[in-house]
Amino acid sequence: MGNIASANAYTMRAVVITQPGDSSVLKVMDRPTPTFGDDEVLVHVAAAGVNRPDIFQRKGRYPAPKGVPADIPGLEIAGEIVEIGRNVTSWKAGDKVCAIVAGGGYAEYCAVPAGQCLPVPAGLSLVEAASLPETFFTVWSNVFDRGRFVRGESVLVHGGTSGIGVAAIQMINAMGGTVYVTAGTDEKCRYCEALGATHGINYKTESFRDVILKLTNGRGVDIILDMIGGPYTEPNLECLAEEGRLVLINYMKGDETTIHLSHVLRKRLTITGSTLRARSAKFKAAIAEKLRENIWPLLESGTIKPIVYEVFPMDQAPAAHDLMQSSQHMGKIVLQWTVGDGR
Ligand SMILES: NC(=O)c1ccc[n+]([C@@H]2O[C@H](COP(=O)([O-])OP(=O)(O)OC[C@H]3O[C@@H](n4cnc5c(N)ncnc54)[C@H](OP(=O)(O)O)[C@@H]3O)[C@@H](O)[C@H]2O)c1
Repeated sequence: MGNIASANAYTMRAVVITQPGDSSVLKVMDRPTPTFGDDEVLVHVAAAGVNRPDIFQRKGRYPAPKGVPADIPGLEIAGEIVEIGRNVTSWKAGDKVCAIVAGGGYAEYCAVPAGQCLPVPAGLSLVEAASLPETFFTVWSNVFDRGRFVRGESVLVHGGTSGIGVAAIQMINAMGGTVYVTAGTDEKCRYCEALGATHGINYKTESFRDVILKLTNGRGVDIILDMIGGPYTEPNLECLAEEGRLVLINYMKGDETTIHLSHVLRKRLTITGSTLRARSAKFKAAIAEKLRENIWPLLESGTIKPIVYEVFPMDQAPAAHDLMQSSQHMGKIVLQWTVGDGR
């Protein structure tokens, strides 16, 4: 275990969930600077991405895993390493990194297992880098590993303009797939098409099942990445191709539903899903390696872009959460400690 050696740094500011509730429960408070383990680094955080799970945590519906600050949200950060644990050889103080964390990201300092850090891609700001880890790790894990995507396959991504969606569209496209998305307005659909989706389906005015079957001449898609669950499950199964995979990353419209199991047998479907947050540091480090090899060069060449919709100062975390809950955003929302710094 280590403690930060820098002067005046034994306490830090953090955005704290003072009690379960609406966004007004988020307050900037003083907290002890985290200690860090032998395999961890301590990052001075410049910016932290906002993710939908942060809102579920704030409402008391998504508790932090053991060993993670229970009342400081934040699943992804970017900043500068200030201290390293005694077993860490891959990083040094002064390195600029972004990282996926299991919580505690809305803080001035965050302790991170070294393997969960990635370099800030050349040419990107710390704000842009902070918008990447949670969604890129989740999409890689669920579409490419769990969903067994191979070049040439087609994927339906629900919530195309979500943080997850804008990462998925670009990653699948870049890896040689065809992407269809759902979104709640025509404008959002066109936005996704400009980003690389073959077709955006306005789920408020069209049946995504009918559109997918029409666009694929009745075949269906190979993979569906779904965060909606509930009533989407049966139409999801109906518009999957033979050997198709339904990968659930949430069930925002309910975790109970009725389906016809005959789809699964007739088309030899796989229904799977996962949550990344509580997985081990080793599991996340393995994803980091794959992202570094396959996706980071595409971020550095500009083939894949960070999509930052709006940046808020850290003390305006309540406004950032309100924007996410309004679903007006397209892409990522990021919190920054010092506005104008690290962009
Ligand atoms: N399992 C994991 O490891 C993991 C990790 C990270 C995130 N997640 C989940 O992934 C989801 C997205 O997270 P995020 O941070 O990217 O959130 P986000 O940016 O707030 O996105 C949520 C999206 O849901 C869309 N949506 C709502 N109702 C819909 C419907 N009926 N059909 C299609 N789209 C609908 C909204 O778009 P419209 O305005 O167009 O409706 C919005 O774009 C969340 O549910 C989150 O919990 C899971």
